[in-house]
Amino acid sequence: MTPNPVSDVHFNFSGRSAIVTGAAAGIGKAIAIRLAHAGASVCLVDIDHDKLNTVAQSLGDQNHQVLSIYGDLRNWDFADQVFERAYDAFGPIDTLVNCAGIFPASPFAEITADFWDKIHDLNLKAAMRMSQVACAHMNEHNISGTIVNIASINAFRGKARHAAYSASKAGLVSLTRTLALELAPSIRVNAIAPGPVDTEGAVAAAAEKTEGREAERIKENYIEKIPLQRFASPDEIAIAAMFLASQSANYITGTTLVADGGLTLS
Ligand SMILES: NC(=O)c1ccc[n+]([C@@H]2O[C@H](COP(=O)([O-])OP(=O)(O)OC[C@H]3O[C@@H](n4cnc5c(N)ncnc54)[C@H](O)[C@@H]3O)[C@@H](O)[C@H]2O)c1
Repeated sequence: MTPNPVSDVHFNFSGRSAIVTGAAAGIGKAIAIRLAHAGASVCLVDIDHDKLNTVAQSLGDQNHQVLSIYGDLRNWDFADQVFERAYDAFGPIDTLVNCAGIFPASPFAEITADFWDKIHDLNLKAAMRMSQVACAHMNEHNISGTIVNIASINAFRGKARHAAYSASKAGLVSLTRTLALELAPSIRVNAIAPGPVDTEGAVAAAAEKTEGREAERIKENYIEKIPLQRFASPDEIAIAAMFLASQSANYITGTTLVADGGLTLS
């Protein structure tokens, strides 16, 4: 089934400045592109140097205001550097999108401390730390801001072989609700819980699970369970993020918007 065209959705982010983590690929890249096209100055953060530069260069060539910052979000002090550099380039930052995430699978019995920490250090701790620095930054500059966290439907329904990932995303949904209370009224905090999205990361994860052999058949089986009968495109999730970050959502905080084609209902 052909997705509905979404190019007629327009948001106005002119005069605004955003930081997007995981902006070199997949959903984060789509959000960064949407924000830049909507007029925001965008700081792209990622650990993949080459992909990051490709996205930043392409946006820069189109005369968008972009800054790329390479680094590992699992490092506690990295968040301070990101906000300092973004502020030097663009002035006060009003929007943070925590999108960087990893989703490796493991049977529960085989989870090691390193495996658990690797997932939580990025999916939950880095989002918490970036939000903490964002909060201090926005308060210091006396601006109203917004944070959007990219969670997952696995936060609500669980998924076999994904105990660590699902727990990290449930933690992110919980963090979203708590921060919405604690940072109100000046900072709105929301999340998105996507179902399956066609991204480089998702394709690589499926291929890894099956050593490449059955990835396509698994995807087809999965699609049968989705009422809208397809995966989301990264841009469809980006549009949901744009809405939550936009002034159109000025009365929305603490919510998690499920964007899963109806999967969790089926
Ligand atoms: N793709 C899906 O089906 C799906 C579904 C639900 C939720 N999500 C969530 O959406 C987010 C993005 O997923 P995606 O599919 O676009 O993934 P992706 O792998 O395509 O992109 C993730 C990006 O994060 C970057 N990254 C990884 N580790 C990092 C680190 N330590 N520091 C900085 N950057 C790092 C990667 O380099 C990559 O560019 C994740 O949080 C994921 O859990 C994805």
